[in-house]
Amino acid sequence: MWLSVLLLGAFLLSGPVRGSDGSASTAITCFTRGLDLRKGTEDVLCPANCPLWQFYVFGDGVYASLSSVCGAAIHSGVITNTGGAVKVQTLPGQESYPAVNANGIQSQVLSRWASSFSVTAGAKNAALEAVGRSVSTARPSTGKRPKKTLDKKAGNKDCKADIAFLIDGSYNIGQRRFNLQKNFVGKVAVMLGIGTEGPHVGVVQASEHPKIEFYLKNFTATKEVLFAIKELGFRGGNSNTGKALKYTAQKFFSLENGARKGIPKIIVVFLDGWPSDDLEEAGIVAREFGVNVFIVSVAKPTTEELGMVQDIGFVDKAVCRNNGFFSYQMPTWFGTTKYVKPLVQKLCSHEQMLCSKTCYNSVNIGFLIDGSSSIGEINFRLMLEFVSNVAKAFEISDIGSKVAAVQFTYNQRKEFGFTDHVTKEKVLSAIHNIQYMSGGTATGDAISFTTRTVFGPVKDGPNKNFLIVLTDGQSYDDVTGPAAAAKKAGITVFSVGVAWAPLDDLKEMASEPRESHTFFTREFTGLEQMVPDIIRGICKDYLDSKQ
Ligand SMILES: *[C@@H]1O[C@H](CO)[C@@H](O)[C@H](O)[C@H]1NC(C)=O
Repeated sequence: MWLSVLLLGAFLLSGPVRGSDGSASTAITCFTRGLDLRKGTEDVLCPANCPLWQFYVFGDGVYASLSSVCGAAIHSGVITNTGGAVKVQTLPGQESYPAVNANGIQSQVLSRWASSFSVTAGAKNAALEAVGRSVSTARPSTGKRPKKTLDKKAGNKDCKADIAFLIDGSYNIGQRRFNLQKNFVGKVAVMLGIGTEGPHVGVVQASEHPKIEFYLKNFTATKEVLFAIKELGFRGGNSNTGKALKYTAQKFFSLENGARKGIPKIIVVFLDGWPSDDLEEAGIVAREFGVNVFIVSVAKPTTEELGMVQDIGFVDKAVCRNNGFFSYQMPTWFGTTKYVKPLVQKLCSHEQMLCSKTCYNSVNIGFLIDGSSSIGEINFRLMLEFVSNVAKAFEISDIGSKVAAVQFTYNQRKEFGFTDHVTKEKVLSAIHNIQYMSGGTATGDAISFTTRTVFGPVKDGPNKNFLIVLTDGQSYDDVTGPAAAAKKAGITVFSVGVAWAPLDDLKEMASEPRESHTFFTREFTGLEQMVPDIIRGICKDYLDSKQ
């Protein structure tokens, strides 16, 4: 991908050179990133009133290209949050980008990124002219080259989303209104601007049992999607929306089935009346999978009908943020045309997709591994196996989750830090290569060491921090003080004890509630069974911290 960006950049630079008098400014959004722009230099125009707390900015002065351009401009003091013109200069990638708090924006640490940019004040004269224009038409025409030709095949590039329409196929809606629903979904699909580089959609039908009608990868042109929607047959049955939502969250968005990395996942649930089952568990699963759930309720229950609804709060239980944004109401299936555009605008609001961050892609997990003599080489391998199996569940990347490991006896050895390996493959291989130390057990010192040297550098980053202490015996030093300090530093501690590890120490180290953060097994072979519980525990803490 980087290669193609470079080639494209080279191609563009070889074209006619644009005037450097600032007459050409592209209006960008709050969330346009450096890598969304062309290579070289570009004059852009930032809008006013961007939501500062949602900016992703990596670095200081020189910013990683996945940073928000307007965020970087405010961070560096080039503009304030009233918007303005900015000149963006593309720069080579850096080994590391520091975190600095400036002008109301906390930038984040990042290591090794393929390209960077810097920002300076841009030409002001074009600013007023360009304000209010849409992104796709913003570059004033000089007669030489239009900025973007409408590429039908590529679709609407400003609306990147992977969307599942979960349509209602229950007896509630009936055959006749089912057809009106198809009509509406078709209109939404047309307005979205489906295309290879724009939104992708698929359809799942909820009834007694859910059925995936087609996946994201099946069609990438509006015409094909419309045809497929037209062909959908009504299934009938109870309105088991919860079951269908859970199924869709789990099965629909796999990479094999066409989901794209780094693009918001959305399920639009159409619901005539109310569900016959419960939405709460489905909502939790969808949140864990980072799916933004929209509930479009049509003909919602009347006052007389409320008695029949299992759970009146079903909408709030299903959505990940109960802020009104993720629910949408239409009074009936008749005359729905005017409801198309507002719904499409919601689905295309990239910056509002708050549910895209999950326990899988937004945590740092540090493993503190006991390497004392009592364990022995074979059991030590079982411990590493456990570490691998936990790490495997997470989406490890530069912008995702990260893993670090420290081995301890009386001494501590940092095996690798959070930014040393940022792919799952490299992390798993680094775990595999850890050599058994053998020695005594000073767990308290090891916790202090890990808090300071491993978590210290990432403590201001975006991820939630977890420490998993893995030990087989009594510590020679005090664990209470160091564990309390780790927790005070915002680290959630899980303790995992094997064989002779005293339960009191394990509980003392663990975060509250201690019962759910303390694990024990008599045998090293029992570690494997704990893996799902640990992962579940991390996800639960992550979700609780976001409520
Ligand atoms: C979608 O793609 C899958 C796999 O390529 C295929 O099995 C399925 O029949 C396709 N569905 C439709 C509706 O074309």
